[in-house]
Amino acid sequence: MQRTFVMVKPDGVGRGLTGTVIARLERRGLRLVGMKLLQIPPELAAKHYAAHQAKPFYPGLIRFITSGPVVAMVWEGDDAISQVRTMMGPTDPGKAPPGTIRGDFALTIDCNVIHGSDGPDAAASEIALYFSAAELVSVPRPEESWIYPQTSR
Ligand code: RTP
Ligand code: MG
Repeated sequence: MQRTFVMVKPDGVGRGLTGTVIARLERRGLRLVGMKLLQIPPELAAKHYAAHQAKPFYPGLIRFITSGPVVAMVWEGDDAISQVRTMMGPTDPGKAPPGTIRGDFALTIDCNVIHGSDGPDAAASEIALYFSAAELVSVPRPEESWIYPQTSR
């Protein structure tokens, strides 16, 4: 089992895509273990995107990510980090294949609907940025015996 941090960005929330994103991850078999709606304060945005601080797109990225509510989530499952990244599609929705979230719902790199951790270190630090341990609840769904048969049957 692996945990990843996922966020529906302000464009996704504003366009009413939160439920669609959640439905896709749920239907895949991933387990939702934490969720909150918030408007990200600038200090938190700076911590989240610290790795991009020197990049030319950084000011616009911070302006965008703080511009409206986001839905922050933690999802859990086998290989969850890379499975979510595959479901998101490439950073630039213009290059994202149909069937991916960005390929189905977005057109520009600035408004690409969803964020997902890009590796285990990022997942751990992003989860800790947005959630306390008490805000995460991991309870197996009954149908997981159809997702992980080797461990439950
Ligand atoms: P994210 O962190 O938001 O999940 O996206 P990502 O891993 O696919 O892409 P990343 O390289 O981490 O970039 C973070 C966000 O910055 C914006 N960006 N703009 N104009 C550009 O060249 C450019 N490159 C990145 C995107 O909105 C991207 O999601
Ligand atoms: Mg990233």
